[in-house]
Amino acid sequence: MSGLPNELKVGLESIDARHEEFWALFERLKVASDAEFIALFEEVVEHTKAHFAQEEADMEGYANKYEHEQEHKKALEEMWYFMDKAKSGKLFFAKAYVKDRLGDWFRTHLLNMDSDLARVIRLRG
Ligand SMILES: [Fe+2]
Repeated sequence: MSGLPNELKVGLESIDARHEEFWALFERLKVASDAEFIALFEEVVEHTKAHFAQEEADMEGYANKYEHEQEHKKALEEMWYFMDKAKSGKLFFAKAYVKDRLGDWFRTHLLNMDSDLARVIRLRG
C-alpha cells in the first residue's frame, strides 16, 4: 500500500482523509482475488456512497454543486452497473473496469472537481 499520491492531495483535511480511505480500498481491490473481489467491491461502493454524501454536504451555496453531484451520480451508477456484472458471473468486466477506468476516473474527478471544491471551502474559511 503506497497511500494517496501527493499530487492527489488537495490540502484540506476532510477531503484528503476521505480520499486516503478510498485509495487504500481501491489498491486492495485492484489486486483482489476472484474470491475476494465482490465483497471488497461492495466495500468500495459503500465507502464511495458515504464519501460522496459527505462531500455534497459541504456544497451549500457552491456554484458547481449541480455538475459535481451529477458526476458523483454517474460514477455510482457505473459502479452499480459493474457490480451487477460481477454478481452475474462476469467478473472479468468488473475487474477490467477497476483496473482500467476507476483509478483514472478518481484522478480526473479529484483534479477537476474536488480540488475546486477544496479551494472554495478554504476561501469560505
Ligand atoms: Fe467529488
